[in-house]
Amino acid sequence: MDPNKRPDDMQRITTPELANAFIDEQVESLRAQVGDGKVLLALSGGVDSSVVAALLIKAIGKQLVCVHVNHGLMRKGESEQVVDVFQGQMDANLVYVDAADRFLDLLAGVAEPEAKRKIIGAEFIRVFEEEARKVAGEVGFLAQGTIYPDILESDGVKAHHNVGGLPDDLQFELVEPVKLLFKDEVRVVGRALGLPENMVERQPFPGPGLGVRCLGAITRDRLKALREADAILREEFAAAGLEGRVWQYFVSVPDFRATGVRDGVRAYEWPAIIRAVNTVDAMTAEVPELDWALLKRITARILDEVPGICRVVYDLTPKPIGTIEWE
Ligand code: XMP
Repeated sequence: MDPNKRPDDMQRITTPELANAFIDEQVESLRAQVGDGKVLLALSGGVDSSVVAALLIKAIGKQLVCVHVNHGLMRKGESEQVVDVFQGQMDANLVYVDAADRFLDLLAGVAEPEAKRKIIGAEFIRVFEEEARKVAGEVGFLAQGTIYPDILESDGVKAHHNVGGLPDDLQFELVEPVKLLFKDEVRVVGRALGLPENMVERQPFPGPGLGVRCLGAITRDRLKALREADAILREEFAAAGLEGRVWQYFVSVPDFRATGVRDGVRAYEWPAIIRAVNTVDAMTAEVPELDWALLKRITARILDEVPGICRVVYDLTPKPIGTIEWE
C-alpha cells in the first residue's frame, strides 16, 4: 500500500467524533513510530503546523521540540499567540527565535519581490538549521504539516517540503501525521484538539509574510503601519462574521505616498490597499462584494488609528490578471 495515497474507503473527517477517532489512531501510531525519540517541528502558527504540533504534544509531550521563527514579518499578535497557546496553554517544549533584526537588516534596500522572497526563504532555512543543529543527535525526527493537496500537487513526487533545504548531514526521519487529510479535515481535527477558533480558521498566509505586502524595499516604519492596518482589517472582518467565509484578506502598503489633509494641515503619507479574494485553489480568484458599511468602517479606523496612512483603497482586480499578492 502506498503510504502517500489516501485509501478509497477512508472516511471524510467531518465531525468531532470522527476527529477524535483519528486523533486516537494517530496518537498510537506516532508513539509507535517515535518511541522515546525526539521530534523537531517548525511551528509557524499556520493551521497545518499547529495541528501537527497539537497532535504530537498529545502523543509524546515534551519529546516534541517546536521551533517558532519570528522573522519580523508576522501579522500583529501572531507570534505572541503561538507562544501563548503552545507554551502557555499546552506546556509544549517551544524554542522561540526572535530573528526580526536578522531578516530586516538583510532586506534593507531590497525592492525586487523575488529577491526579497529568496532572502527570506534562505534566511529562514539558516535560522531553522541553526536550531536543528543544537538538537541534532538527540533528535531523529522532523515533523511536517504536509497535507493531502501538497501530495496531490506534487504528483506523488516529494516536492512538498515545507521546511526543505536542510543540508544532507542533518538527517531526519519524516513524521507527517496529517498527510492524508484535506484542509477542512485538518480544521475539524484542530478544533477537536482544542486549538483556538481563530487559529483553526486562519486564512492562508504566505511564507514571506508581510514581507511581500510591505511593497518595494521594506522599512520598519512602513512595516509597522502595515501591521496595524492589517490588524484592523482582520478585526473588522471577524466582527462582521467573515472569518473563514472570505478566503483571504489583507492590507498591502506601497512604497510611495499620497497627499491628504489632516486637521487642516497637508499630509503626505502612504496609502493602504485592501485586498480580499475568494478562490478554490488560488489559481483564479474573485473579489467579493463587501458590505459598503464594513469598508467605510475599516477605512475610518485605519485613517484614525494608523499613523502614516492617509488614504485607503479597495483592490477590485480579479485573478487573472492580478495575482492575489501585489508582489
Ligand atoms: P498569488 O499572489 O500567486 O498567490 O496569486 C496565491 C496564493 O499563494 C500565496 N503566496 C505565497 N505563499 N510563499 C507562500 O508560502 C510565497 O512566496 C507566496 N506568494 C504568494 C498567496 O498569499 C495566495 O494565498
